[in-house]
Amino acid sequence: MKNIDSFTHLRGESIFVDDIITRQDTLFGLTFDSPKAHGKIISVNYAKAEAVPGVIKIFTYKDILGENQIGGIIPDEELWAEKEVHFIGQPIAFIVAKSEKIAKKAKQLIEIEIEELPVITTAKEAKEKGSFINAPRSFNLGNTENAFKNSDFIFTGETFSNGQEHLYLETQGCYAIPQENGNIKLISSTQGPTAVQKTTAKVLGVPMHKIEVDVTRLGGGFGGKEDQATPWAVMTAVAVQHLKKPVKYILNRHDDLRMTGKRHPYQSSFKIGINKDLKITAFEAEFLQNSGAAADLSPAIAERTLFHATNSYFIPNVQTTVLSCKTNLPPNTAFRGFGGPQGMFVIESAITYAADKLGINKKEIQEKNLLKEGDSFSYGQIAKQVEALNSWETATTNFDLKTLKSTVQKFNQENTLYKKGLSLMPITFGISFTNTPMNHARALVHIYQDGSVGVSTGAVEMGQGVNTKMLQVAYQTLGISPDKVKLETTNTTRVANTSPTAASATADLNGKAVLKACTLLIERLKVVAAKMLSVATEEVSITENVVFVNGKNSDLSWEKLIAEAMLQRVALSENAHYATPKIHFDKSKEKGHPFAYHVYGTAITQVTLDCIRGTYEIDFVKIAHDFGKSMNFGIDIGQVEGALAQGIGWMTMEEIAYDKNGRLLSNALSTYKVPDVFSAPKSVEIIPLKTKGNDMAILKSKAVGEPPLMYGIGSYFAIQDAIKQFNPNAELKFHSPYTPEKVLMDLYAEN
Ligand code: MTE
Ligand code: HPA
Ligand code: MOS
Repeated sequence: MKNIDSFTHLRGESIFVDDIITRQDTLFGLTFDSPKAHGKIISVNYAKAEAVPGVIKIFTYKDILGENQIGGIIPDEELWAEKEVHFIGQPIAFIVAKSEKIAKKAKQLIEIEIEELPVITTAKEAKEKGSFINAPRSFNLGNTENAFKNSDFIFTGETFSNGQEHLYLETQGCYAIPQENGNIKLISSTQGPTAVQKTTAKVLGVPMHKIEVDVTRLGGGFGGKEDQATPWAVMTAVAVQHLKKPVKYILNRHDDLRMTGKRHPYQSSFKIGINKDLKITAFEAEFLQNSGAAADLSPAIAERTLFHATNSYFIPNVQTTVLSCKTNLPPNTAFRGFGGPQGMFVIESAITYAADKLGINKKEIQEKNLLKEGDSFSYGQIAKQVEALNSWETATTNFDLKTLKSTVQKFNQENTLYKKGLSLMPITFGISFTNTPMNHARALVHIYQDGSVGVSTGAVEMGQGVNTKMLQVAYQTLGISPDKVKLETTNTTRVANTSPTAASATADLNGKAVLKACTLLIERLKVVAAKMLSVATEEVSITENVVFVNGKNSDLSWEKLIAEAMLQRVALSENAHYATPKIHFDKSKEKGHPFAYHVYGTAITQVTLDCIRGTYEIDFVKIAHDFGKSMNFGIDIGQVEGALAQGIGWMTMEEIAYDKNGRLLSNALSTYKVPDVFSAPKSVEIIPLKTKGNDMAILKSKAVGEPPLMYGIGSYFAIQDAIKQFNPNAELKFHSPYTPEKVLMDLYAEN
C-alpha cells in the first residue's frame, strides 16, 4: 500500500502549520533571545521596540500567570529568562506585532545589558568544573576488575562524536487561536501534543482541558520536536491569553538553528579486555554527554546510551557510566537513536582499536562476540529471538563478503592514490520507551452510519508513514477496503494523555490500540450479521466489505450491515487502550526487562578514498535488516534508507561548530553540510532477514524508525579502514565526523 500522504505531498497540497489559512486579525510573534552564552541580566530596555508602530506587546516572564517553567523531566528551564541567561539563543522576550516584518524591526531596537559569566562549551570542561544536570548513572554486569586481571590484552582509548542538526524541512512553529471562555486551540508542529498541552496549561495557570492541541502532520521531527516544539507553542498561547487574538509564530531557519538543541556530542573513554581466543572479557566506558544548559530529555538519552553501550555483543563483565554535563549550549535533545548511536560508536571504536593493536581484522572480534539466545544484557534483560548472528551471516553470505574483500584488496594493490575500505556494522536496538510508564497508547475508532470509518490515535505523522500503517491495521481488522478509512488529525480532545511520537514505538503502541478497538467493533458487528443471516456468530467473517458465512460470501454488504446495526442501536464507536505487557525496569538496581523486543541487522559499507584530497565516496551499503514481517515494505525500506543517510551524515560530514563563547558557527546551510544526492552511497541494497517475527510488534512488523540510523556508523570505520591502507602506521582516531579535513590529517599523520 502506498503512503497515503504521497498524493498530496507530490501535488504540494499537504497541510503544514504555515499553510493553515489564518484569521484576518492574526498577529505574529518573534523571540528576542540572549546574545550571550552565560551572564546576569542587568537590564533590558524595550521602550524603543514598543514604540514601533504595529508592535502590540512584548511579553516577558512578568506576563506569565502560571509558572515560568517548561522543563519536562527536571524543572530547570524557564520559558523566558528572568535573571540569568545560560546559552546564546535562550528566549528572553516575545514580540507580538501586526506583521513579522514589524516584529523583526522591533527586535533590533531592544537594548540589553548582560554581565558576562564564564562559559563552558565542552563536556570535559563541565566535568572538571563539576557542572552536571543530575547524578551520574551506571549499568554494571559481572566484575570488570577481576576480569581485567585475567585478560590477555587490555586496551584503553578515547572517542568523540559530535552533535547533529535535525534539519527537519518544516521549522518549529505554532498557530494559536482563542476559543470561547478563555480556551485556546494550538496548531503545533509537535511530536508531543500532550507535552505541549500540559506545559501550556502549567505556564498559563489553567487546567489542561482549556488547551486543545491539534497536529495534522510534521515536515519531519527526528526527535527535534519531541520536547522542543513546546516553548514556541507556549509563547503563542501566553500571547493569546492576554490579547485574545490569534497569534502565529514560525521560526525562520537561522533562528531555529541558533535557538534549538541538537543531538548530544559525547566525549567518552573506554577500556576493553580481550583474550587470545578473541572473546571480549570486560568493557568499561565513561560517557560524557554534552547536555547543554538545561535537562530537556538528556537524562533519558543518557540512559539509552547505557542500554546500547555493548551494541550487538555479549560481554560478561560491563561497567558503564554516563554523566550529563551541563554546558552553555542550547539544551541538546532527542535525535533519532536517542543516545544509542553515541554508545554504539564507542564499543565499535574499542573493538577497532583492539583489532588494530592485535594486528587482526576487526571482523574476527565482532563475529566472535555476537549476542546469542539467552545472553544477558548489562541491564539484566535476557536476549530472546536474537537475530544478531542471523543478520551477520545473511549479510556476509548473501552479499558475498569474500569476493568484496578480494576486490578491495586487488584495487588497493593496483592503486596508490585511491584506496578502498570496508566495514561491518551490526546493530541491536531495544524497542520501547526506556521509561516504562510511557509505553501505552489509545485509539478512537468511529464507524459512521454509511460504513465509512474515522480513526484517531495519539500518533503524529512526521513522514515515517505511521498514518498509513494505522489505516492498514484498521481496514485489515475490520475487513473493509482501505478507501473506507480516514486518518484524523492528532488531537488532544479526541485522544488524551498521549506519549510523544518517539522511540520508534508509535506504530506498535497506537497500532495495537487500533487493533483492539477494531476487534471490539467487529466482534459486535458479527453478532448483528449472524442474526441477519440466521447463522451462528462463529460462522461469520467480514472480508473486503462483504459478510462471509463459513468462508462463502453472502449478499450482506458492509454498508447494509452497518445500516442495520445503526437501527438496532449498536454502538459504532470504540475507544481502546494498549499498554505494552511484560516490560519493567528497576532504577534503584538498574536491572529489568525494559524492551518489548530488539531489532537486529548488519550493514556492509565500502568507501573509496581520494588520498590526495581526503575526500571519499561511499561505493555501497549492503544491509541485512530485521523487519520482522514488514506490514508495509515500501515505507519500511524508506525508513532504512533515510535513517542510513542521516547516520552517514552524522558520521562523515555534518559538523556542528560552536566557538569558545558558545556561538554557533555552523549556523546556515552554507556552513553545515548535510548529505545530498552526490554524497549518498552509490547503491544501497537492503534484504529482509528471514525471521518468525515478534508478537509484541504490530502485526509482527517490527519498529523501524531509528535502528537503521546506526548502520551509518559503518561509514566511519570504512573510511578509517581505507586510511589504514594508505598509511598503515596511522594511529587510529575516533573523532567523528570524519570530514575530509580530518581524513587528510590522518592520511598523512606520522606516529
Ligand atoms: N521519518 C521521517 N520521514 N521523519 C521523521 O521525523 N523521525 C524518526 C523516525 N523516522 C522521522 C522518521 C524518529 S526520531 C522516530 S523516533 C520515529 O520515526 C518515530 O516514528 P515511529 O515510532 O512511528 O517509528
Ligand atoms: N526514546 C525516545 N524518546 C523518549 C524515550 C525513549 O526511550 N524516553 C522518553 N522519550
Ligand atoms: Mo525519536 S529521537 O525517539 O523522536
